[in-house]
Amino acid sequence: MRILRTESEEETINLGKKIGAKLGGGDLLLLKGDLGGGKTTISKGIAAGLGAKEEVTSPTFTIEQIYKGKNDICIFHYDFYRLSAGDITEFELLENLKNDKAVFLVEWPENLEADLPHERIEIILTFINKTVREIQIKTFGAKYKNFLEDI
Ligand SMILES: Nc1ncnc2c1ncn2[C@@H]1O[C@H](COP(=O)(O)OP(=O)(O)OP(=O)(O)O)[C@@H](O)[C@H]1O
Ligand SMILES: [Mg+2]
Repeated sequence: MRILRTESEEETINLGKKIGAKLGGGDLLLLKGDLGGGKTTISKGIAAGLGAKEEVTSPTFTIEQIYKGKNDICIFHYDFYRLSAGDITEFELLENLKNDKAVFLVEWPENLEADLPHERIEIILTFINKTVREIQIKTFGAKYKNFLEDI
């Protein structure tokens, strides 16, 4: 596990870029923590680090947004804050997870009922004050054994 602190939105985006640049596809990232903690902000960086050119916006209302990254990687960005029982989007995520070229960024995964794969990265953002966030990064599974070394 790694625990970092960022002191501005830009620092969080830059951390996201570093993380995104290390992903190669078939990655599941769970983004947890406070409302306004920076889950969407770090997602902007992760998508940019993966080569996405489009602006990443919050999927709060659309629930799912898809971006194209480098090497044909598809970035699926979800926000399950408003998920209600039986919502089709949860099943779509489970179907899409079979795509081993894609990268999945999932805000509010706590609201899902389904079991997610064990092999994953969890990023937990805690609001310290208006500009400071504590960011914990945890990896699960052999694939990410050395992932945090240079982050
Ligand atoms: N160090 C920081 N890191 C990230 N965001 C920061 C930081 N300092 C201030 N901010 C601000 O905090 C807000 C974070 O909002 P963001 O939408 O990324 O949060 P979120 O976790 O996705 O919220 P939600 O749970 O509503 O989806 C932004 O307005 C951003 O400018
Ligand atoms: Mg958000």
